[in-house]
Amino acid sequence: MVRNWAGGRCSMSAMVWSLLGFLLFLHLYSLVSHNGGKGGENKFHSSHHPLIHELEEVEEEHIQIPSPRDKRSPRAAKRRPKRTTTLIDEFLDENSQLRHRFFPDIRSVIDPANDAGNNSLYYHPGRIWLDTEGNPIQAHGGGVLYDERSKTYYWYGEYKDGPTYHAHKKGAARVDIIGVGCYSSKDLWTWKNEGIVLAAEEANETHDLHKSNVLERPKVIYNHKTGKYVMWMHIDDANYTKAAVGIAISDSPAGPFDYLYSKRPHGFESRDMTIFKDDDGMAYLIYSSEDNSDLHVGPLTEDYLDVTHFMRRILVGQHREAPALFKHQGIYYMITSGCTGWAPNEALAHAAESVVGPWETMANPCTGGNKIFRLTTFFSQSTFIIPLTGFPGSFIFMADRWNHADLRDSRYVWLPMIVGGPANRPLDLNFGFPVWPRVSIYWHRKWRLPSIWRV
Ligand SMILES: *[C@@H]1O[C@H](CO)[C@@H](O)[C@H](O)[C@H]1NC(C)=O
Ligand SMILES: *[C@@H]1O[C@H](CO)[C@@H](O)[C@H](O)[C@H]1NC(C)=O
Ligand SMILES: *[C@@H]1O[C@H](CO)[C@@H](O)[C@H](O)[C@H]1NC(C)=O
Repeated sequence: MVRNWAGGRCSMSAMVWSLLGFLLFLHLYSLVSHNGGKGGENKFHSSHHPLIHELEEVEEEHIQIPSPRDKRSPRAAKRRPKRTTTLIDEFLDENSQLRHRFFPDIRSVIDPANDAGNNSLYYHPGRIWLDTEGNPIQAHGGGVLYDERSKTYYWYGEYKDGPTYHAHKKGAARVDIIGVGCYSSKDLWTWKNEGIVLAAEEANETHDLHKSNVLERPKVIYNHKTGKYVMWMHIDDANYTKAAVGIAISDSPAGPFDYLYSKRPHGFESRDMTIFKDDDGMAYLIYSSEDNSDLHVGPLTEDYLDVTHFMRRILVGQHREAPALFKHQGIYYMITSGCTGWAPNEALAHAAESVVGPWETMANPCTGGNKIFRLTTFFSQSTFIIPLTGFPGSFIFMADRWNHADLRDSRYVWLPMIVGGPANRPLDLNFGFPVWPRVSIYWHRKWRLPSIWRV
């Protein structure tokens, strides 16, 4: 190509002019796209309710990493000697000077019992969140059930208010099983402690719920046919070799739940998991399997107490965990995380026309903050998605900011999630033409639900 151009008789000036033209074009293009990237996000609004717009504002976050000379404790410096430190290192370093940015202390609590006035109903992702009795909420890896009979929200999660330790040298940081915590609320902000609705087994060492084992990611759905509240959870031993699901039931959303049994669904390992109840009453189990390389999905039996024999592998070889599902306008969506233990990583959004797949991976849904915030899901990991009734396409994204050094002090990151918002990154494999509406999780230091949603 170059040779042909140069060999032409009178092409020299033509070439120069085209080159100049091209450079001018590039310059103009970069100006336009730069503007578009900065303030332009807000120009492309979907037809959402106007009250949702403020939740879609893109909020930047600037964190300066302290200079390397003085910032690190000798112990932490020894552990990670030469590499330049990143914000993720700072996050994982319990002695970091930036600790308060990720784990603000007790002085900045969210305290619904006393925060009337200007702070009322505001979510502050990462801050300590108190229940109505003034204790930090203990409901990690949780999920929320809306109970139509009592018109009340119930938040279930791992009650981890015990010491963090390593069972043996190579074991993951853990807290003994205490049980599943349950909190109730009418407004999704003020949470009353309903107690431990499924408790650890103190004495019987062969029991799944013996405190030396692992109980993670409890989720509850209601079965209209049996009138029972059914809880599914990840059951494991301290080394994560059991890899099973456990099932418990109750007549009341506030428990107590009776533990039934555990099993490996479809005969496969099951670690991070969730359950999803569709509009038609069918419910599904989705779990990380085969060394976390794939997810498996299959329908539950009519009573929700077991899986059926039908199972599909999805996101094969993609190594995803922490699945959270939701549905919008007949399409199923899922947010997942990568597999890096307690350390945060990049979330991905997936979409499908059927719960059992095929599922397509779209993009990282995180919007705003800064690059590291987006690459770490705002230093958190997905656990559940709450639909905002009355605002179709609007959801609360629930995630855990794990504190691996003191798991009981892990924080909650709740953020608005909108389907169909502006695309901020072209999707892979389809040349920038998204086949699915975009899913966006918007970073906010402080936000609240639209006023007419509030009760
Ligand atoms: C709320 O904010 C206003 C204006 O910033 C201030 O004057 C007022 O004292 C605040 N009220 C409370 C209860 O903090
Ligand atoms: C201990 O738990 C196992 C497994 O759930 C059960 O089969 C056994 O009966 C329990 N033992 C006692 C003494 O409760
Ligand atoms: C877990 O692994 C460690 C080290 O391999 C071993 O000592 C321990 O007995 C195992 N515990 C269980 C519950 O399997």
